[in-house]
Amino acid sequence: MKEISLHIMDIVQNSITADATLIEVSLDIQYANNMISIAIRDNGRGMSKEMLAQVTSPFVTTRTTRRVGLGISLFQAGTQASGGEFCIDSTEGVGTALQATYGLDHLDRPPIGDFAGTMHTLIVSNPDIDFLVTVIVDGAQDVLDTREVREALGNDVPLDMPDVSLWLRENLDEMFKPEYTDF
Ligand SMILES: Nc1ncnc2c1ncn2[C@@H]1O[C@H](COP(=O)(O)OP(=O)(O)OP(=O)(O)O)[C@@H](O)[C@H]1O
Ligand SMILES: [Mg+2]
Repeated sequence: MKEISLHIMDIVQNSITADATLIEVSLDIQYANNMISIAIRDNGRGMSKEMLAQVTSPFVTTRTTRRVGLGISLFQAGTQASGGEFCIDSTEGVGTALQATYGLDHLDRPPIGDFAGTMHTLIVSNPDIDFLVTVIVDGAQDVLDTREVREALGNDVPLDMPDVSLWLRENLDEMFKPEYTDF
């Protein structure tokens, strides 16, 4: 069973490959509604209708007629196996958006894993891409927007500079507390 953070890593990798310059990732934990919702949106090149239909077709392991990766299929399969839902929309030249939900207390829900570490790695290893990270816990929202960080630092200070990297890490750790992964 793959951790949710590793799925996020995979899906954001798709956005990077699609030349996105802004990637939005939100993690919404709703204890009250017994739900976890993940939303990932990019402004990359998007997919054709045909491609979109292929990546969302039911996951069939015996299929050998096409060479399409597993990143999206596995993410989708995991949500549906844990009482959740999955949807993806994409427009060529505009971007791609995915939303996945999990039943919070479903026995087959994967653990969230290291969300702060995953987002930190993605940001500092792609210093030219902007990230908008949102964590919402029962309605209380916390945001990290690298566009604002750049503006505050001045555009010549790279986000992978050690001091900046450390600051980003501390902020992400504040946003996503370890106890969220305890269940
Ligand atoms: N954000 C995106 N923007 C544009 N195209 C995308 C995006 N995400 C996926 N795609 C297209 O859908 C295909 C399938 O994506 P998926 O992640 O399932 O597999 P993959 O990236 O090809 O391989 P894998 O993830 O298994 O290494 C990609 O090859 C790409 O063509
Ligand atoms: Mg992929």
